[in-house]
Amino acid sequence: MKKMTIKALAATAMLMLAPVAGFAGGGGNLHLDHVKIDMGDKASLQRGFKLFANYCLSCHAASYARYNRTASDLGISEIMLKENLIFTGAKVHSPMKVAMPAEGAKDWFGKTPPDLSVIARSRGTDWLYTYLRGFYLDPKKPVGTNNTVFPDVGMPHVLWELQGWQEAAERSEDGHVTKLTLVEPGAMQPEEYDAAVRDLVNFLAYLGEPAQLERSRLGPWVLLFLLVFSFVAYLLKKEYWKDVH
Ligand code: HEC
Repeated sequence: MKKMTIKALAATAMLMLAPVAGFAGGGGNLHLDHVKIDMGDKASLQRGFKLFANYCLSCHAASYARYNRTASDLGISEIMLKENLIFTGAKVHSPMKVAMPAEGAKDWFGKTPPDLSVIARSRGTDWLYTYLRGFYLDPKKPVGTNNTVFPDVGMPHVLWELQGWQEAAERSEDGHVTKLTLVEPGAMQPEEYDAAVRDLVNFLAYLGEPAQLERSRLGPWVLLFLLVFSFVAYLLKKEYWKDVH
């Protein structure tokens, strides 16, 4: 009986891990560039939020997040929020919705842009980092571009002004693009663009788990409490055992 339970548990655990392993594998020979996420870096999160509001919210919602909660988590004032980050006419306490109707988007791009609230958890941060740097010119596609990690993606290269345009430079035997070259520079140097995308991915990681910031803020206090508590417990123990010895 006990053995059965362990087997069942193991099977459940494997089922739960399967999608993770699938993504980690990235579908065959897919190479993902690693990005270091640091949710403690408020300046990076603020820059990421700005990019997100400017370049992504026109099509994608993040409807699990509210503007004012996000702003206060990231140390952004309400005035700053209203003047620089809300373009849809939404109220400060509204969830981040898109102005564009979903049907319209489907007609234009063939797919409805998904909600990005938890995208960092479903795709992983390395995938997002590679995806947002992986658009290249492909005249065969309706939007004129394609993507290394998301072949035939319906999303246009919305950050082209910053990154510029890339072309496929090398392909693997099965036709996957393995290397890109910049054929027309954008407003940013490649390193600057990588850093900007890192900020954006950092922000998306925060969106997927806003409680993370609160946890890391509370962490040191919890440890301090445990330390003080252990000391008091030690004193008490000494007091109790004094007479026994
Ligand atoms: C012009 C509209 C538009 C804008 C602006 C836009 N996207 Fe998209 N995005 C799409 C569409 C359409 C899809 C669905 C593509 C598909 O499934 O083929 C998509 C898909 C995605 C996906 C893949 C989702 C999945 O299926 O896993 C990610 C990630 C993403 N977008 C991130 C972003 C980010 C970050 C920005 C801002 C820099 C952004 N998008 C801006 C239209 C847009």
